[in-house]
Amino acid sequence: MERPNTSLLDVLLDVEDLRVTFRGAREVPAVRGVSFSLAPGETVAVLGESGCGKTATARAVMDLLEPGTEVTGRISYRGEDLLALPAARRRALCGSTLAMVFQDAQTALNPSFPVGDQIAEMFRVHTGTAKKAARERAVELIAKVGIPDARRRARQYPHQLSGGMRQRVAIAMAVALGPEVLLADEPTTALDVTVQAQILDLLRELLDENDSALLLITHDLAVAAQVASRGVVMYAGQVVETGPLERLYRAPRHPYTIALLESVPVLERRVEDLGSIPGAPPDPAALPEGCAFAPRCRFADELCRSVVPEPRELPEGSVVACHHAEAVAGV
Ligand SMILES: Nc1ncnc2c1ncn2[C@@H]1O[C@H](COP(=O)(O)OP(=O)(O)OP(=O)(O)O)[C@@H](O)[C@H]1O
Ligand code: SF4
Ligand SMILES: [Mg+2]
Repeated sequence: MERPNTSLLDVLLDVEDLRVTFRGAREVPAVRGVSFSLAPGETVAVLGESGCGKTATARAVMDLLEPGTEVTGRISYRGEDLLALPAARRRALCGSTLAMVFQDAQTALNPSFPVGDQIAEMFRVHTGTAKKAARERAVELIAKVGIPDARRRARQYPHQLSGGMRQRVAIAMAVALGPEVLLADEPTTALDVTVQAQILDLLRELLDENDSALLLITHDLAVAAQVASRGVVMYAGQVVETGPLERLYRAPRHPYTIALLESVPVLERRVEDLGSIPGAPPDPAALPEGCAFAPRCRFADELCRSVVPEPRELPEGSVVACHHAEAVAGV
């Protein structure tokens, strides 16, 4: 959908019309035609209420969805279609060139091994580094992510570290192999505000060394403002608005983005604070006809309730999926 002003070669990750359908007792179309791209050095924030498909999107890119889940569309990395790659090649890319930090550091860490050994193992497996050298690199990396007394910490198990330290170790593992694209799924949600800011600064600093791109999934609008230059707003499995974050915050075009930002200054606001929008997001397995936001939208009319709004580009370069974006935003 969105096409930044860069040549194809400048795009690291390009996701086009991504659809994810979970198939269990019932069919759940959790992601319904999501498109976005990431250029080198760029940080893009993905915003949206709980259940809108942010994690499913990231896990689809990393091939981390449970078997049986249907994934269609195009996910290309440097022009190579990941969905068409042989499994072994895709596995080799995901975890090294493309990496992910999870919301809960526990997901990434094995409780039964010292954290230094876990980082060292990544160097051994992916780069064939000898055991002793791999251990040394792990200690260096632990120091680099700001953990004091790195040599001693490297020998400790995850439960011996604080939550903030575990998250730093998870980040160390994710950046260990110098990924070109990092997907960070609410990497700081569980931490207190000062540590959050430190960890995000650290993350961007580590990524800047390689001009790597960061896709930051967050509920926190202030966190997004701190590091991202572009924003992708999702609702009910679709992208409803994208554009430069500064513009998005200053002059949102989609009623959902407007509602996200309404009345409270962005820097004090989280997506959960959505007091001003009555109702809840729809169940993805039972979507309303027409625009998925219509039941909660104060601008909804008959057209909205019957025809799905397609994403379209506005003259200023942002992309909005709303029949009435111009009128709503007074453009
Ligand atoms: N394994 C699964 N099987 C069936 N439905 C699922 C599965 N995983 C997620 N879903 C559903 O898919 C939708 C999108 O979930 P997802 O985890 O991507 O949301 P999210 O935007 O990351 O939310 P949050 O902000 O709470 O992390 C939700 O309705 C969720 O209930
Ligand atoms: S298409 Fe209609 S219901 Fe949907 S967000 Fe726009 S105005 Fe609201
Ligand atoms: Mg999630």
